[in-house]
Amino acid sequence: MATSSATVKTVPVYSSVQAHLQWCSSKYRLLCAAIQRRATVPQQCQFLLPIVDDLMDNLFENDCGDAAHGALRLTFHDAIGIDPVLGGGGADGSILIFNQTELTFAANDGLDDVIDTVGPFFLKHAASLSPGDFVFLAGSLSLATCPGAPQVKLAIGRPQPKAASPDELVPEPFDPIDKILSRMAAGGNFSPQEVVALLSSHSVAGADTIVPGMEGIPFDSTPSTFDTQIFVEVQLRGTLFTGQGGNQGEVETAIQGTTRLQSDSGFARETSTNCIWQSFVNNQQQMQQQFADAFFKMSLLGQNEADLIDCSSVIPPAPEFTGAAFFPPSLTHSDVEQACADTPFPNLPTLPGPPEVVPPIPQADDDDDDDDDS
Ligand code: HEM
Repeated sequence: MATSSATVKTVPVYSSVQAHLQWCSSKYRLLCAAIQRRATVPQQCQFLLPIVDDLMDNLFENDCGDAAHGALRLTFHDAIGIDPVLGGGGADGSILIFNQTELTFAANDGLDDVIDTVGPFFLKHAASLSPGDFVFLAGSLSLATCPGAPQVKLAIGRPQPKAASPDELVPEPFDPIDKILSRMAAGGNFSPQEVVALLSSHSVAGADTIVPGMEGIPFDSTPSTFDTQIFVEVQLRGTLFTGQGGNQGEVETAIQGTTRLQSDSGFARETSTNCIWQSFVNNQQQMQQQFADAFFKMSLLGQNEADLIDCSSVIPPAPEFTGAAFFPPSLTHSDVEQACADTPFPNLPTLPGPPEVVPPIPQADDDDDDDDDS
């Protein structure tokens, strides 16, 4: 039977790789990308794809900003809530379900804003995703918004959390380094190397609660890029405070507009970790690989990996980052507070221009405030 070519819509049939590529780069590009994406995702993980799109587009707005930073911090505060003696379920989403208990813990200060932001998205998808799975899906996707971040692995299938975590399991920025290392070893069997690797997260981070009256004070000069600047800038001699200064958990920083955690400063200077810290400087590949491994290990705390499904293929790659580490304007190698006794701190170029004043990170609830005002 003959059909009229005017009435039948034809999709090109490709008989060779070349024709396929041509089709994929033609006007069917978006359709082709969607088909290719589905083809790489196992059947049991396909239900995640619309949730991935919702979180990337509507929660994070494809930006490595405050919502993404908060979702990343949430993974740690959920997962490290486990101890061989005191109990706790680890990476189980208890921080969402038992937030009335866990948000009263001093170390979780500031997470109320994060839960206000991510909570509605969790509730929207709670029928298909357990709280622990949601925390790690959101945290893994938050990284995909940050140029330079690794594509982390994601396992799905955590059961519902049973109880709130006990208090005092999340490290505080004023804790001595050996206390933090002991807690990380007890809670997650993390080595000092893995702890420092996890602190790469402070490359895309800032503080809302350390300096009274100031929110979104970045930890480094590039808080929307997962780069090694945190390892450079925390090693610079502290000379100033942003804001009034002298707050618990904070020490002097080198760059106006940023704040430095006492714990990050300690990791960069104490003999047990200073050479590990320095080894991350301008070593993007090491940072990506070691962070990704430690982050996945963290995502399994309290869980049995054999019971989970590997859904890593739903996590998109982060935007590429090709830059290199630098000293911020006006600062040079002579401003480094050398701590590692084994090798000198690498020399880096200084960015041109006058001393920098790093702006605060716009807050996720700023839009709401604007709406309220209008
Ligand atoms: C091990 C010791 C750690 C200590 C003492 C520590 C401490 C802190 C503190 C005090 C803040 C600022 C909170 C605020 O005032 O809003 C912060 C922010 C943050 N931390 Fe950590 N942290 C640690 C490890 C980690 C780990 C392992 C991760 C993730 C893998 C992480 C991710 C973040 C992120 C992304 C932020 C920024 C949150 C935002 O900007 O909203 N931290 N951390």
